[in-house]
Amino acid sequence: MSQDSQPTSTSTPPGAGLAADRPLRVAIVGTGAIAHAHAKALALDPGADLVAAADPVPAARDAYAAEYGVARTYDDLTALLAGERAHAAGPDAPPVDVVHLCTPPGLHRDQAVEALRAGAHVVCEKPPVLSLADLDAVLEAARAAGREYAVVFQQRTGTAVAHVQRLLADGELGRPLVGICHTLWYRRQEDYYAVPWRGRWATEGGGPLLGLGIHQLDLLGFLLGDWAEVDARAFRLDRDVETEDTSVATVRFANGAVVSVVTTSLSPRQTSYVRVDTTRATVEVEHLYGHDASSWRLTAAPDRTGAPHPDAPAAWALPEADEPSGHVPLLRAVYEALRTGAPLPPVAAEPYRSLELVTAIYASAALGRPVTKADLAPGSSLRDGFLDGVEDLRPAAAPA
Ligand SMILES: NC(=O)c1ccc[n+]([C@@H]2O[C@H](COP(=O)([O-])OP(=O)(O)OC[C@H]3O[C@@H](n4cnc5c(N)ncnc54)[C@H](O)[C@@H]3O)[C@@H](O)[C@H]2O)c1
Repeated sequence: MSQDSQPTSTSTPPGAGLAADRPLRVAIVGTGAIAHAHAKALALDPGADLVAAADPVPAARDAYAAEYGVARTYDDLTALLAGERAHAAGPDAPPVDVVHLCTPPGLHRDQAVEALRAGAHVVCEKPPVLSLADLDAVLEAARAAGREYAVVFQQRTGTAVAHVQRLLADGELGRPLVGICHTLWYRRQEDYYAVPWRGRWATEGGGPLLGLGIHQLDLLGFLLGDWAEVDARAFRLDRDVETEDTSVATVRFANGAVVSVVTTSLSPRQTSYVRVDTTRATVEVEHLYGHDASSWRLTAAPDRTGAPHPDAPAAWALPEADEPSGHVPLLRAVYEALRTGAPLPPVAAEPYRSLELVTAIYASAALGRPVTKADLAPGSSLRDGFLDGVEDLRPAAAPA
């Protein structure tokens, strides 16, 4: 069984201790930027009740609680779990049913394990954790507790990506051959990298590859399946950070497709671009932070006269009912599963694939050689964390 297919379900039914006829009691931990997307999505779900929030910064959590009508706030997760016991839905119920982790990445592992052990399901922002070993530990805690660990990689969601993924999986588009995966974003030193946890191995776990490019790598893996081999380099070209600010990689997938990956935080004209050329078509999506049907393009291979292939496009047409990608469809699918005890939906399961790809890119850059799945097998020290193999190519002095 591949890493990607490791089940997150456990011997205890995921719905145990939860009642289907009451709203799920939800807590948000970390009330910074992305926590707003969670609260807005939860507000659309009558079966989810956002009852508590935790953040060590009183001003941040108070403003957040006022904006979303959150009844109780706490300094941290431990205090929240202790305080919410008094409000639990019953003697067998956990303090809260679901904990959303919207905290800096270096906190995700310990907070996920703590929440799972308290009997809550966890919905965790990307990146799930900072290493494959940490992910093993979190999923083991989920198995032991009989609870779910859902990850937020919202580029997998939306009607268009579901349609394209089905066309690729069913072989409608032929065999994937070659692709491009670009995360060309722009992040300034004076604000983005001024946040203390960013740009440092210990707290962010990596640079733009882990923090930004993982979105596009995750979508790429969602479309193409398992990766097989990675050959990569990482550079620090401009920003004053410990990690890389730019990386380039060649990724070979198990299905034979070869993809060129470029990830940077230095691109003034920003884009998120994923392209797959198959034997029958070119599939492209171009956007910045979220896509809808208008972001996607399918181009049929020409016939011998140069005209578009006649028998292709009818079945390929993107669906007219168009829901964009985002936290709303992702959390809706997750909460449907949590309420019914069904396995997590594909849009929120399988956290391994993109974290493995990121790990493989850092490892290849550090080791100076291609890295395969076998290099990341259980027991490998490469599972313990990312390696600092960054080539610092900044000029000694800035040009006049
Ligand atoms: N899915 C997306 O599109 C997306 C977008 C942005 C960020 N993210 C991810 O969300 C996470 C948070 O990012 P952000 O941009 O919201 O960061 P942020 O710095 O704006 O917010 C983090 C919050 O966590 C709080 N915090 C710190 N330590 C805490 C603790 N021990 N307990 C509780 N709260 C604590 C901070 O005070 C802050 O309010 C990161 O993993 C990031 O990668 C995802």
